[in-house]
Amino acid sequence: MPLLEAIDVHGGYGGMNILNGVNMTIEADEVGVIVGPNGAGKSTMLKAIFGLLTITQGEIRLRGEAITNLSPHKLVEMGMGFVPQENNIFPSLSVEENLEMGAFLKPGTASRLKAQIYEFFPPLLEKRRQPAGELSGGQRQMVAMGRALMNEPSVLLLDEPTAGLSPLYMNEIFERVKTINAAGVGVLMVEQNAKQALRIAHKGFVLAAGQNRFTDTGAALLDDPQVAKSFLGG
Ligand SMILES: Nc1ncnc2c1ncn2[C@@H]1O[C@H](COP(=O)(O)OP(=O)(O)OP(=O)(O)O)[C@@H](O)[C@H]1O
Ligand SMILES: [Mg+2]
Repeated sequence: MPLLEAIDVHGGYGGMNILNGVNMTIEADEVGVIVGPNGAGKSTMLKAIFGLLTITQGEIRLRGEAITNLSPHKLVEMGMGFVPQENNIFPSLSVEENLEMGAFLKPGTASRLKAQIYEFFPPLLEKRRQPAGELSGGQRQMVAMGRALMNEPSVLLLDEPTAGLSPLYMNEIFERVKTINAAGVGVLMVEQNAKQALRIAHKGFVLAAGQNRFTDTGAALLDDPQVAKSFLGG
């Protein structure tokens, strides 16, 4: 049974369709990566999965169960975590307080989970009492991911976790994603750093104009000359 399935998903904003039949499947132990040009509908697809816009046709399933158009709150209870690209931390709260905000479902588990998150993201331990807004871009991204992990999701949706980061930090974030995945969390992530992201992707989805253009393993997409030419800058 796949962890997460999107079947022929249609939807958009205010009656205008952006997604025109998107299909995606990831297994429990996989990292899935969504790439594609600006405006392709990548962020819209994550929002559709997370219940932030109405799906007008098609279905989303979590471990076989239909979750189409459930509320974000309900989806978090069911084990889904979402890190939007922007405004994903509370800048004036400390790192630790940001993480604690994430544990709203099970406050009793906060200290155990914080310890685990500091293991995933060692730089955060040192900075735990600092306002999160004072951290570097890469570390702020770690706070955002850490906060989502505080509810122990089985699937984590990430929208461009490496946007605006230096190559060093980009690689560090991808390494963390691999570690989190190896610890048992399925990941579906949108990325503009497409080549690097596809290198860690079990599944890759090239979206264009709200549809799958190419769907394969990350390695196969990287090897496909058509994908390289049209979507990966040659
Ligand atoms: N809240 C919104 N209301 C109306 N239209 C929107 C909204 N958000 C996005 N769109 C439109 O939907 C289309 C897809 O946007 P989306 O943000 O999903 O693209 P994307 O693939 O994530 O692009 P990018 O790489 O720039 O992040 C675009 O044409 C965009 O203008
Ligand atoms: Mg986007």
